[in-house]
Amino acid sequence: MANQLCIVLDFGGQYNQLIARRVRECGVYCEIRSYETPIEELKQLAPTGIIFTGGPNSVYDPASPHIPEEIFSLGIPILGICYGCQLMAYTLGGEVKSCEKSEYGKIEITHQGGLLFKDVPEKSVVWMSHTDYVSRLPEGFSVKAASEDCPCAAFEDPEKKLYAVQFHPEVTHSQFGKEILRNFLFEVCGFTGDWVMDDFIEDTIAGLRKTIGDKKVILGLSGGVDSSVAAGLLSRAVGKQLTCVFVDHGLLRKDEGDFVEQTFTNMFDMNFVRVNAKDQFLSKLKGVTDPEEKRKIIGAEFVNVFWDEVRKDANGGFFAQGTIYPDRIESGKGNEAGQGSAAVIKTHHNTAIPEDMKHLFAGILEPLGDLFKDEVRAVGEKLGIPKELVWRQPFPDPGLGVRIIGEITEEKIKVLQDADAVFRDEIAKSGIESQLKQFFAVLPDVRTVGVMGDHRTYDHLIAIRAITTDDFMTADWARIPYDVLARVSNRLCNEVEHVNRVVYDITSKPPGTVEWE
Ligand code: XMP
Repeated sequence: MANQLCIVLDFGGQYNQLIARRVRECGVYCEIRSYETPIEELKQLAPTGIIFTGGPNSVYDPASPHIPEEIFSLGIPILGICYGCQLMAYTLGGEVKSCEKSEYGKIEITHQGGLLFKDVPEKSVVWMSHTDYVSRLPEGFSVKAASEDCPCAAFEDPEKKLYAVQFHPEVTHSQFGKEILRNFLFEVCGFTGDWVMDDFIEDTIAGLRKTIGDKKVILGLSGGVDSSVAAGLLSRAVGKQLTCVFVDHGLLRKDEGDFVEQTFTNMFDMNFVRVNAKDQFLSKLKGVTDPEEKRKIIGAEFVNVFWDEVRKDANGGFFAQGTIYPDRIESGKGNEAGQGSAAVIKTHHNTAIPEDMKHLFAGILEPLGDLFKDEVRAVGEKLGIPKELVWRQPFPDPGLGVRIIGEITEEKIKVLQDADAVFRDEIAKSGIESQLKQFFAVLPDVRTVGVMGDHRTYDHLIAIRAITTDDFMTADWARIPYDVLARVSNRLCNEVEHVNRVVYDITSKPPGTVEWE
């Protein structure tokens, strides 16, 4: 049976995916749609509730996103957030003005009851970010909360099931934001919370079995979270009809190729093909030092090796990919390219099927196409995939290739793999791992003078990088305690051959990027 649906109508706000994730966290299935979606299409989707996102525009600018008034009389409950709140007021005959003083940051509001504020204290802190405000409400609406500078911080017409908040309940800075969203979903809309991961797994497996029948399936496995979880689901659905192709370009972390191979061959019923292509990649990379050139070569070689392997086994079966929901979301007007689109550009595991191979496949399967990353991880855990894979930090497709500056050689790969393994081991022991979003070693291709015993050395410098971030668009360098840094430095110089100096990268993003190349 299909889940109840909540539609998040995207007006280009930066938090639209976050709103959708919060709704899903409440056990309510939701999808993001553009504000331009025709009303007829929305009616057919028959959502149990609709949420309007924020957005960067002003409603009185004729070029800003608008919506037909009809949407408010469909009888479907609507919650307008920020721009969505102003749009609701404006479209229904209220007035929106520019604030004398923009509200930005944590602001205290006082509410006067109503379903949205059930079990929320009278005064609480919310996250505001607006330069316009609703100065007069449409007929039938009443104010339900206000801040010092915002007289209509929340308002409602409960008869028509229309609700609006000027603030952002979806961000964690809003103290009771989660409760307010829950109240809208459960008290106002009457959702039952039927989006449950166990059901998703069982339904997806049943659906895959039906679609695949007795055909074969091929999946490109990188060892990253998404392709690993897709592999787990497909294996549970069709076992040996699934072949996973894992291209080892020799630029993985220490022992990673073996770990991925063992995990999937031991835990899951499937055919696992590992293509050991290190020599091939290294010969193409010989003498190449330009970062973009290196990336291009690795990407192109990956595509060649992968599709050559797939071609051997593709006769009328399905091609599966670990695409997830953020990769598919169309961004709204005025929206920055989302994290999803950035991820797609960078990933060569989701390459399109080459033209001359399309006829070899019965179709494409994307079993995770409706899930956010946190949901993919939840499914992975339920399928029993090891934590090391499910909670893996991001790892770039070109692998250590973007962490070895200058020419990539076998010797440098070994030094970096060993150094990176020591650094990761120390972070794991330090108890600070969960505070870091990514941490790794870099080989900057710099040699410096040192002393070891009575000898002068001239050997490699290792840089270590650790970052904190919410979305990888911006990042800060992590304040790793000095004693952890000291242990890392000690061990790197003592245990890793050809390392005699260690530096810590203290550059945020921007101006730096996370990776060095
Ligand atoms: P940058 O270096 O652009 O990295 O600040 C942001 C995030 O993206 C990861 N990254 C990649 N991921 N293929 C990927 O799948 C790539 O080519 C790639 N390059 C960078 C990086 O590790 C960080 O998490």
